[in-house]
Amino acid sequence: MTDTALVTGASTGIGKAFARQLAHDGLDLVIVARSADKLEALADEIRSETGRRVTVLARDLGVQDASAHLVDDVASAGITVDLLLNNAGFGLHSPVATSDPDRLAAMVQLNCGVLTELTQRFLPGMLKRRHGTILNVASTASFQPIPTMAAYAASKAYVLSFTEALWHEVAGQGVRVLALCPGPTDTPFFEVAGEDFSGAGKRTTDQLIATAKRALAQGRPSVVDGLPNALLARTARFVPKRPALWGAKRYVAPRS
Ligand SMILES: NC(=O)c1ccc[n+]([C@@H]2O[C@H](COP(=O)([O-])OP(=O)(O)OC[C@H]3O[C@@H](n4cnc5c(N)ncnc54)[C@H](OP(=O)(O)O)[C@@H]3O)[C@@H](O)[C@H]2O)c1
Repeated sequence: MTDTALVTGASTGIGKAFARQLAHDGLDLVIVARSADKLEALADEIRSETGRRVTVLARDLGVQDASAHLVDDVASAGITVDLLLNNAGFGLHSPVATSDPDRLAAMVQLNCGVLTELTQRFLPGMLKRRHGTILNVASTASFQPIPTMAAYAASKAYVLSFTEALWHEVAGQGVRVLALCPGPTDTPFFEVAGEDFSGAGKRTTDQLIATAKRALAQGRPSVVDGLPNALLARTARFVPKRPALWGAKRYVAPRS
């Protein structure tokens, strides 16, 4: 039977690129985001290019009970999810004191809450079938606090910690778990975060997907995309806090 991947945040950027790649790799898809028009256009493109079954579930994952409803709708459609890509998320480049409180709360809920709920709801079935993959999108921001992006970096530290612990919990039970940590990647992310980052050195979504595939094949709990990003992430652990915070702020400052 054909495997099905559920991709959150599939209307643009990393999720859209993964959706295309997974379909080309032979998986059916459930694609989720708010922008119904973008999802429908992507579904049409993928169906005509690959012949795969693509189910569009356009919705705001930030509203109450969104995860429960999504899981119910997937089950009602008779779909079994074999690969869960928890990718939907956004950043907020703004000091805590002056951030819009609703937007801050929505970001934490989407980046952490929804990811946790979907993982927990799809995991038991995967364990029962001894077959499945959970791919959670973290960030290089997972590795150090970032002044002016405090809640975003903290949310991604949560994703990394949660996913690595889960990797160990399910080891040897037929379910693969990976925290994928992109550095700056060429997507609309920076626009949404309120950043101006034309940024040389951005990685492509193709490079990121290749990194994820390698890490899954190696059974790793987490992976950072790109050697310079991986070196920076490792270094951050050994630098004393004050200079690390100063450096992190300077690194993102030109983007504000
Ligand atoms: N690009 C980077 O440099 C970078 C680096 C590190 C980590 N990441 C992480 O990678 C993931 C994907 O980001 P991206 O770079 O691909 O950015 P993006 O192009 O802005 O994609 C974000 C996706 O999330 C969806 N989304 C946002 N809010 C949603 C909501 N309330 N309900 C449902 N879907 C929602 C968006 O679709 P709609 O607007 O249609 O809802 C979109 O499909 C995020 O978790 C981000 O934190 C990105």
